[in-house]
Amino acid sequence: MLDTDIDTPTASSAAPEKAPHVDAERYAQMYAASVDDPESFWAEQGQRLDWIKPFSKVKNTSFAPGNIDIRWFEDGTLNVAANCIDRHLETRGDQTAIIWEPDSPQDAALHISYRDLHTSVCKMANVLKGLGITKGDRVVIYLPMIPEAAYAMLACARIGAIHSIVFAGFSPDALGARINGCDAKLVITADYAPRGGRETPLKSNTDAALLHCKDDVQCLVVKRTGGQTTWTDRDHDCNALMAEASADCPVEEMNAEDPLFILYTSGSTGQPKGVVHTTGGYLVYASLTHEITFDYHDGDVFWCTADVGWVTGHSYIVYGPLANGATTIMFEGVPTYPDAGRFWEVCAKHKVNQFYTAPTAIRALMGAGNEWVEKHDLSDLRVLGSVGEPINPEAWNWYNEVVGKGRCPIVDTFWQTETGGHMLTPLPGATTLKPGAAQQPFFGVQPVVLEPTSGEVIEGNGVEGVLCIKDSWPGQMRTVWGDHERFEKTYFSDYKGYYFSGDGCRRDEDGDYWITGRVDDVINVSGHRMGTAEVESALVAHAKVAESAVVGYPHDVKGQGIYAYVTLMNGEEPSDALRKELETWVRSEIGPIAKPDLIQWAPGLPKTRSGKIMRRILRKIAEDDFGALGDTSTLADPSVVDDLIANRMNRR
Ligand code: WTA
Repeated sequence: MLDTDIDTPTASSAAPEKAPHVDAERYAQMYAASVDDPESFWAEQGQRLDWIKPFSKVKNTSFAPGNIDIRWFEDGTLNVAANCIDRHLETRGDQTAIIWEPDSPQDAALHISYRDLHTSVCKMANVLKGLGITKGDRVVIYLPMIPEAAYAMLACARIGAIHSIVFAGFSPDALGARINGCDAKLVITADYAPRGGRETPLKSNTDAALLHCKDDVQCLVVKRTGGQTTWTDRDHDCNALMAEASADCPVEEMNAEDPLFILYTSGSTGQPKGVVHTTGGYLVYASLTHEITFDYHDGDVFWCTADVGWVTGHSYIVYGPLANGATTIMFEGVPTYPDAGRFWEVCAKHKVNQFYTAPTAIRALMGAGNEWVEKHDLSDLRVLGSVGEPINPEAWNWYNEVVGKGRCPIVDTFWQTETGGHMLTPLPGATTLKPGAAQQPFFGVQPVVLEPTSGEVIEGNGVEGVLCIKDSWPGQMRTVWGDHERFEKTYFSDYKGYYFSGDGCRRDEDGDYWITGRVDDVINVSGHRMGTAEVESALVAHAKVAESAVVGYPHDVKGQGIYAYVTLMNGEEPSDALRKELETWVRSEIGPIAKPDLIQWAPGLPKTRSGKIMRRILRKIAEDDFGALGDTSTLADPSVVDDLIANRMNRR
């Protein structure tokens, strides 16, 4: 619950040293302008990019049932790599674009200037061309957090290929499904991915994935550790090819609505869907939110600790910061390796001004003790950010006091893979902060709170419901790759005429927004978004499993943990060995992030007479809150509930 005694920095008590881009008054003015006259507002914001052919149309969007159609700047042409690199060369060619901080602190960080970035991206783009990749082709990127990941993204953008990054923690099966899902021509991978002192064999994972893909998918391999790998006919040596490649590669002229990337994300049903972002609107939105939300100023060093495998890495490690000519940090490691001081050591070493991370990391580091923070000089920090899940007030307070020394505003940014950039967030210097609240809509975002069942708009303050958005914003996803119907069904059919976020929210007495968590079957484990249906289908794919139901439960560090109810096939006996086997199985089907935290053997699952699993009850039992099970009279066999309660795994 909320501790109202928390010392909250406000616009006046903790204003950043550089005058903030917006104060409260300016925010109000700009927000009003953005929703009263979106055409003019975004026409002006569109000027932050360099266009090859300027746009004359700004907004052409429809949320109407049967006609979900979203276009921004639709007759303009541009190139994302030109905007993130080339246009900076004249004024900041020698400035560091990317600081790469390797997994081991013993290894030296790399400072990559905009000029070096240009050279490497052009070379990689020419390598891609040499492999036959052309405009519109899909390229899957399965890389560690190394500079080549950014080169690969920008090289695709340069030649108009569509990248789809798969987080290096995903298993071969998950990788294969994504390669096939977008019909990729090429996978870019590395030999190994060092992380936290361990190495994931990315190349052999890719080999395993490609067994299930078309024969003509090629593989470009970056050398990271130099460790041994197998080599097949479809493999190409990235380092060797780049060494020979020309550093001259003209940019492809892209329409604003040409796809820039596909990113697979989890939903409440079925397999992950390919979220499609396009060129113009996405980049305008990523760059504007990066500048305003973090109060980024020229010369600042910006660090987002995400992985480029997630949308946060796309928008706030690569595209937003580089479009703004920033110095952005790319960190290969983890917060606790070699020790719990690593984040703070890196902040001090590179004089980080804005630091952006997830609550799960904050909670883990809070648990390690203040001394890890206090050892390091964090005086360059000006703004702290949080993303991925609701932040509990205790973690917020620690972040504020111990890391920010009470002088760095915390921006709790609510957004999604689908939204391209921040949707609700406080702004440094403009917002009186409330711990745990995402507070205010970003420019152009019109949140509405709907009554969940009737779908009626709930007006006024002090209300709670589901969060929808009334009109389009430039960073919005355009479609689900290859399945526009699924796009409409997922986001626009429960509440007609609105974009449905899948999250619940409260608008408090002051009109500030608080995200209350997902209202669908999506869970958030250590800031990683996962569909319970995906874990269930992995479990039932095991020969000994007859049925399974997966729910989230509160977890002190991870935010939510994965709780799996498993019904075994007739004749199979539960055992600890089988539990281990199922854990390993899920890791191999999806990846380590999907490993169940708790597995309960369930002789039966609570179902309605029509056979629908009553997840509400399973969630309550997993939360150890079975006093409040609600109505169980519609169950086909109410006695299964007693068994589940008696054998519950999460006893508090
Ligand atoms: C959750 C990550 C509360 C939310 C950028 C959303 C948050 C899902 C916040 C999207 C926040 C993200 N406060 N909840 N500040 N930020 N979420 O697609 O449930 O990986 O729907 O995008 O994370 O996760 P995704």
